[in-house]
Parts: sequence; C-alpha cells; structure tokens
Amino acid sequence: MTTILAIETSCDETAAAVVENGMTVRSSIVVSQEALHRRWGGVVPELASREHSLHIAPAVRQALEVAGISWAGIDAVAVTHGPGLAGALVVGVNFAKAVAAARSVPLVPVNHLEGHLYANWLGIPGAPDTGWDHRGPEFPVLCLVVSGGHTELVVVRGHGDLSVVGRTRDDAAGEAFDKVARILGLGYPGGPAIQAAAMLAPGEAATDAADALTRPWMRGTLDFSFSGLKTAMLRQVEGDATNGGRPVGNPSRMAGVARSIAGQSGEVPERTARLARAFQEAVVDVLVSKTCDAAERFDAREVVIAGGVAANLRLREALVARSKVPVRVPPLVYCTDNAAMIGAAGYFRLQHGHVATSSLDIRPGLRLDDANGA
Ligand code: KG4
Ligand code: ZN
Repeated sequence: MTTILAIETSCDETAAAVVENGMTVRSSIVVSQEALHRRWGGVVPELASREHSLHIAPAVRQALEVAGISWAGIDAVAVTHGPGLAGALVVGVNFAKAVAAARSVPLVPVNHLEGHLYANWLGIPGAPDTGWDHRGPEFPVLCLVVSGGHTELVVVRGHGDLSVVGRTRDDAAGEAFDKVARILGLGYPGGPAIQAAAMLAPGEAATDAADALTRPWMRGTLDFSFSGLKTAMLRQVEGDATNGGRPVGNPSRMAGVARSIAGQSGEVPERTARLARAFQEAVVDVLVSKTCDAAERFDAREVVIAGGVAANLRLREALVARSKVPVRVPPLVYCTDNAAMIGAAGYFRLQHGHVATSSLDIRPGLRLDDANGA
C-alpha cells in the first residue's frame, strides 16, 4: 500500500490530504479563504499567499491526525506545482519539499488540472452514495475540465497520456459564471450564486423562449468562447436600467442569494433569476454538446467532468441525460479545489516514476498538455 500526503495551495484554498493507493481518501482538509476574498469580489494574490503560510502547517497536521497516521506513515508527498498564483504555489511547494527531505520520501509534482481530472478516481470508504466503484474510469476517457481558469476537453488514453482537443478562446466557464454573477449583482463566487438564483426562476427553462440566449457554438471546432455571453448579459441588464422597467435588483436584496446558498432564507427578483437561468442554460448547452461530440469522435468509453464548475447540478444532470456513454461525476466535495485529488494524481504519477528533486520549482503557467512531460 502507498500512502501519500498531498498538498494544494494554487489559489484560495489551503488543502492537505492523505490518500491510499490513489483512490482511498483517509482525510481531506480544506481551509477556505472564500470569506476573506469575497469582500474584494475576487482572489487577492497577496492575501492568498499570506493565508496559505498561516494555515499550511495546521492543515497538514490535521490531515495526518484525521487519517490516524504519523509522519512515519507517509510513503510520498504530492504537491501542486502549477498552474496557479505564484505566491500561493510557492507556499505548498516549499512545505512539501521540506517534508519530503525530512522524511526521505519521494516528492511528486502534480499539475493542478490533472488533479481535478483525478477527482474521478477518488472515493471515501463507507460512503457508497459517492458512486465510487473502486475501479476508476475506463480508458479512453473524455474529460471536460471546467474551472475558474480553464475550460478544456481532454482525451485521456492512459495514466499520464493526455491530449487537449478543445479549449476556450477567451473566458473560462467558471470565469464567465463569476463575471456574470457580478453583472447580476449576485456576488462571489459566482457559480454557486448563479445556480441558486436560476433554481428560483419560475417555469421551465426549455419553454421560456423569451429568455433564451444565442449559443456561441464555434462550429467546426471543439473550442469554446464565453465572452460573448457575458456581453449579452450586460446588454440585458443595461437595457433593463435604461427602460426603467423590471429592475435587476439592488445589492441588499442580492445579499439574499448568498444567504440562501448558505441555507438561510433570501430573496431574488424574478428577472434576475430568469437571467441567471438563461445564462446557465446557454453555458451548459454548449459544454454538454461539445463534450458529447468529442466523446463520439474519440471513441471514449466514459465521460468525466472535473473542476469547480463540475459542481454545477444543471451541468451534471444535462450531461448524464445526453451522453451516449456512461458519465462519471466526482463527489461534490472533490469538484472544487482540494488536496485529495492531488494525492490521486500523484499516486499514478509516482507509479510511472514521475519524481522531482529538491530543486522543484513552481510553474504558474503550466498547461494540461505540459503534464505529459512535466
Ligand atoms: O476548480 P476551482 O475550485 O478553482 C480553480 O482552479 O479555478 O473552480 C472555481 C470556479 C469558480 O469560477 C466558481 O464560480 C465555479 O468554479 N463554481 C461553479 C459552481 N461551484 C463552483 N460554477 C457553476 N456552478 C457551481 N455550482
Ligand atoms: Zn482548481
């Protein structure tokens, strides 16, 4: 058995986990900085870096404690070395280097995006509702990676054998959710806020022709483009304002959305809910159509999704409904940033001898296709 201590500090979550054989999560600790960054409407790199420095040691200690192991029980350390914020990545990488050196165990560098993909290999013992079957997806796998910084279609033919076959040409899907949420006054992070607001829209989206947005199909390619949708939403909101009619809502009412996500009651004006749903439907439609096309084109045996936007319930539902091959979605807790997924990816990398020296450096601009040789 191989027990990996995994560390993730690429953005605004300080995370540590203990994972056995790349699939069994013994512990997964995530210290979120969301509340801190919310007041700035996005992640402030300097604050993120400082917070990681404060929380990394306690998070690792807690991960060991929950897993019930001591330092001596660690066989390897896996760490995200890119892509991400430089000042954030460096905290995790330095900590991982120190542990690997002190314990004389291998140090495994992991691409954050590959980590998201490997969330599909994870399971929690004794939690059958996660849909985990102990085997992992069957190759070739078609993966839709949708996070705050990335939107990519990836064909995975085996461990470490990845080809990006489609990507966004402008905004990432999560970035579009975040920007549109700001336009609608729904706050940060935008994805969960838009999802919650969309659920409050009356009637069925499919029959709501008045709210339908033109889909950015980018015909003839598996690439995406989401910035036009953002502009279309902006025009709708500006149109509302100049017509003096149907208000999109004021900030105090919008604070209700954040409350409703947190399980408290809140109010969202109907117009805002409709716009949120129209946007979500358009994004989901394009993501799902292209994912299904790609799965067919590359003879995928399974479709998986990864990244923060994979937490979107509408996306999960639509993909399951439209895919011709089985769809696997990671447990919700492993969709957004966490270290367990880094432990899974790290395990399979380690199996292939992918080990770093003590001179491992951060790679803030690392791409998913770089992972093959990184
Ligand atoms: O993977 P992640 O946690 O961090 C990055 O590596 O970027 O993804 C964060 C992104 C944010 O843009 C957030 O708005 C989006 O994932 N997100 C969602 C949902 N939950 C998180 N987007 C749509 N629906 C959700 N339920
Ligand atoms: Zn991420």
